[in-house]
Formats: sequence, structure tokens, C-alpha cells
Amino acid sequence: PDGEQAERFQARIDADDRIEPNDWMPEQYRRTLVRQISQHAHSEIVGMLPEGNWITRAPSLRRKAALLAKVQDEGGHGLYLYAAAETLGVSREELIDQLLSGRAKYSSIFNYPTLTWADIGAIGWLVDGAAIMNQIPLCRCSYGPYARAMIRVCKEESFHQRQGYEIMLTLSRGTPEQKEMAQDALNRWWWPCLMMFGPPDGESQHSDTSMRWKIKRFSNDGLRQKFVDATVPQAHFLGLTIPDPTLHFDEAGGHWVYGEIDWDEFRRVLAGDGPCNRERLAVRRKAHEDGAWVREAALAYAAKRSAATRQ
Ligand code: ACO
Repeated sequence: PDGEQAERFQARIDADDRIEPNDWMPEQYRRTLVRQISQHAHSEIVGMLPEGNWITRAPSLRRKAALLAKVQDEGGHGLYLYAAAETLGVSREELIDQLLSGRAKYSSIFNYPTLTWADIGAIGWLVDGAAIMNQIPLCRCSYGPYARAMIRVCKEESFHQRQGYEIMLTLSRGTPEQKEMAQDALNRWWWPCLMMFGPPDGESQHSDTSMRWKIKRFSNDGLRQKFVDATVPQAHFLGLTIPDPTLHFDEAGGHWVYGEIDWDEFRRVLAGDGPCNRERLAVRRKAHEDGAWVREAALAYAAKRSAATRQ
């Protein structure tokens, strides 16, 4: 009967049916989703930190309001995603514990520092641009709660991307020093952004099953190429240079061909040895500890309320 259930399940996926929390699903489908959704949630929460560093130093009230809104959006995305993961039978406490103890992964990109204001532009343009490329297909993911969460997330990401590009546009049309800052930020963020899409297809251990289950709709290399093709003309419009001397347009294939990615660097960052891994986790742990009194107060209040209604 298990084999029959699995066959029926795959037939539903093939027919583009949405799988909902109470439906039967293979254990590995559940585990894959918990893994991906929780890593995604952690990425949003840790992703608040590099940009959060610049809220107090934003160059104008308008820039500060937009940055504040963006960082708050990311916190919201983390919460929708934890809620989506909870529909699969894990608790938020468990997931947060995995993050804080260093057992869980989150996106490699958030382990790089934000050195100048131009980094806020580059993150919006490139990091959020890459996130959108990866997340638009997730709106059609076979698991209903994840797919639905992605719709609003993508709308907000698209605002983030535009605010970042507008910062880059302003800087690249500003003084020579400002243009140089924009170029320097592009130089530092370009390669780590290409790594966001994950290992090359040949080394991506989860892609085959995730594609069969329509959790993933495109391969890592497929999305990476779409991102490069969309972004190179945007860099040209800014008058900036992509830091890849081998980058060229292949007329026959219709794609921008990029150089070799430093996969050793990617592996180092995943292993916990990127420029900011330790700092990011330390800040999250401190925030969690500093918030302990809020959780205790909320529990005490809930206990009091339920005691009062019982009387
Ligand atoms: N950073 C950290 N870990 C990564 C990254 C990355 N950029 N890319 C891949 N990995 C990890 C995978 O999580 C997996 O680790 P695990 O087995 O311990 O879980 C391992 O490397 C092998 O990779 P794949 O087999 O290719 O893994 P998968 O099929 O899950 O594909 C991908 C990776 C594309 C990141 C996928 O999980 C995904 O689409 N996730 C949802 C989007 C997301 O998390 N975005 C976060 C950044 S965007 C943002 O938050 C603004």
C-alpha cells in the first residue's frame, strides 16, 4: 500500500496538484521541505543583519525609511516561512535552536560584510535580484503553504531590488568617489551572489528529487544563468564593470558566458569559515537571549488569562 500511495502522490505532482499539510506525503518529501523552508527562513532572519548595520548611517531620511521597511520585510518573510515549516510538524523552537547551535544552514551570502553605503545598493540590486530569480518559480512549488508564502515575499523582494538599483544608479551618476564606491561594492558582491544559487548541477545532491517533486522547477545552474543574463545589461546601464575578465556574450547560445566560480570559497563559507559567520551567529544568539524576558512575560500572561477564564 505504501508503494501505491507513493505512486498516487507522484501522479498528483505530475498533474500539478497542490499538496496540503494534511495530505499523505512521502517522509522524504516532508524532510526535504523542512530542510529547504527552514534554511530559507534562517536566511531571511540572518539576512536582516548586514543591512541592519546601516540603518543608523543611512544618508537621508528617505533612504533610512526605505531601508527600515526592507529589513522589517525580511523579518516578516522569516516568520511566514517558519509558519510554513510548522505545517510540516516541526516546531519553531526546534528550528531556531538548530540555527543558534550552528547545526542549520542559511544562505552563504549573509556571511559577507557591508563595508560602505554602496553595499546597501549592491545587496538590493544583486542579492535580492538573485533571491527573486530563485523565488518566482517557488510560487509554483508543489507544497501549498510554501508556494502561497512566496507570492507576497516576491512582491516585497521586487521593491527591495528596485530600491537597491536606484541607490546604485544615484551613486554611479554621482561624484567619481561615489561611482568608485558603487564599482567596489559590485566587485565584492558579484561572485558571492553567483554562489547563492548553490553548487553546480553535477554536485547538487538534492536537485533530482526536488525537481521530480516540483519543489524546484529549475536547476541551480539554470537559475544562475538567468540571473547573469538579466544582470549584465543592468550593470552596463549603470556604467559599471562586472569583475569577470572572461565574461562575453555567446551569440549562438544567446547567453552571457561567465568565468570559473571559486567553489573552495563557497565550501569554506558553508563550513562556517566565511568572513562573518561567527559574528552573525553571535548577534543572533544575543538577540535571542535578550528577548528571553519577552517570551517569559508572554507565557506568564497567557497562564494568568487562562486561569482567569477557568474561574
Ligand atoms: N548557501 C548555503 N547553503 C547552500 C547554498 C548557499 N548559497 N546553496 C546550496 N546550499 C546547500 C544546500 O542547502 C544543501 O545543504 P544540505 O544538504 O545540508 O541541506 C547543499 O548545499 C547541497 O545543495 P543542493 O543539493 O543544490 O541543495 P538544494 O536542492 O536545497 O538547492 C537552493 C539549494 C537553491 C538554495 C534551494 O535550497 C533553494 O531554492 N532554497 C530556497 C531559497 C533560499 O533559501 N534562499 C535564501 C537566500 S535568499 C534570501 O533570503 C533573501
